[in-house]
Amino acid sequence: MVTVQKAKKLKGEIVIPPDKSISHRSAMLGLLSGGKMEIRNFSAGQDCKNTLEIVKKLGAKAEFKSEKLILLDSSDAFRDVDGQITLDCGNSGTSMRLFSGLLAPKIGKFELLGDQSLSKRPMKRIIEPLQSMGAIIEHNDYKAPLKITGNELNAINYESKIASAQVKSCILLAGLGTEGITSFSEPYISRDHTERMLKYMGAGIICEGTTTRVAKSRPEPKNITICGDISSAAFFLAAGAIVPDSDIIIKNTGLNPTRTGIIDILQKMGANLEILDERTDCGEDVGDIRIKSSSLKGTTIEGAIIPRLIDEIPVIAAIAAVAEGETVIKDASDLRNKEADRISCLVSELKKLGADIEETADGMIIRGQKSLQGGAEVECYHDHRLAMSLYVAGLMCEKSVKINEFQWVDISFPEFLPLMTSIAVF
Ligand code: S3P
Repeated sequence: MVTVQKAKKLKGEIVIPPDKSISHRSAMLGLLSGGKMEIRNFSAGQDCKNTLEIVKKLGAKAEFKSEKLILLDSSDAFRDVDGQITLDCGNSGTSMRLFSGLLAPKIGKFELLGDQSLSKRPMKRIIEPLQSMGAIIEHNDYKAPLKITGNELNAINYESKIASAQVKSCILLAGLGTEGITSFSEPYISRDHTERMLKYMGAGIICEGTTTRVAKSRPEPKNITICGDISSAAFFLAAGAIVPDSDIIIKNTGLNPTRTGIIDILQKMGANLEILDERTDCGEDVGDIRIKSSSLKGTTIEGAIIPRLIDEIPVIAAIAAVAEGETVIKDASDLRNKEADRISCLVSELKKLGADIEETADGMIIRGQKSLQGGAEVECYHDHRLAMSLYVAGLMCEKSVKINEFQWVDISFPEFLPLMTSIAVF
């Protein structure tokens, strides 16, 4: 349990820890490369550790040269895969969905397991398209555990009804191991880290708007440096925007436009935000962000921007509770399928802190107030992003807030508390 109290201000500079989505993909594409490469700045979150363990179980060697530098050697990957291999994805939806695509065209039998939360999350979104490629998958009513028997697949043109980078990446990874051209279209663009990394590693991939095509190909091993995670930066951006007298610089943040919905929305709400030192690194856009507090206004969040800020909606809702006017979030029903039902859980916990917030089928309506009373104990429902969003809400509460099972932040961001307390003045 962690107790958080009202902050007077946030001041200082932090370096944001490595991007989770890019970390997963670096290990997976490194595995497929069949060669040696260095991965610098790999996430310390438990989800990414699970991916690295799976890559090792599939025959790659991963040696930590230093705390932040992994030497990945996949020369012997998949060589001794016989019998059934059990692969534990823990809490990580990205591991389960992406490995399903990666493994479906490989020789071998693979069982993908998840923890209690992951075993309840929908897998039909990947099972159906993979089966239409000819994949052999046993499942528990479209939920984990998934038993995959590798098989020769056929290429498909798949039009996804949802904008999901996990579904897209699953099909693209399956397509890499399949003769012909596999094509994937989505209604709006979702995060494109897989596509960018495949281009960076010289695989056969073409992107045109919301359609991506891959050919059977092997990514070349290439050293990768992973930038900071904008989804982790989001908690500091939100807190910096709303806690009075704040002025912080967040260094080395990923600024891939498929992830920067949080910046667009903060600016629309009136945040005082500046991007410094924009650059590209290993195919990704990177920069530093300076944010100072200002008075925020409510806004509407809907449509194409949703996949660009899907993970940031809980913390946006937290600050909207003290912004002027109403914030309406729509088209976000997939939030109910995350590590927890992020709509109903967030609404119930922010209400305990005094927020005027209402649940809708595909989002929420928040009527901003001058302050939040706090003085309550809240639950994070085993969900790392709910835990950190409630912490940010706690920074704005009149009375201190207790957050139970706060250790769930370790799933993505074990550095959260030390970083926050290094810049917060209470
Ligand atoms: C992710 C994609 C998103 C996001 C998740 C990570 C990824 O999920 O919510 O935290 O790395 O591809 P969906 O693609 O299911 O929206």
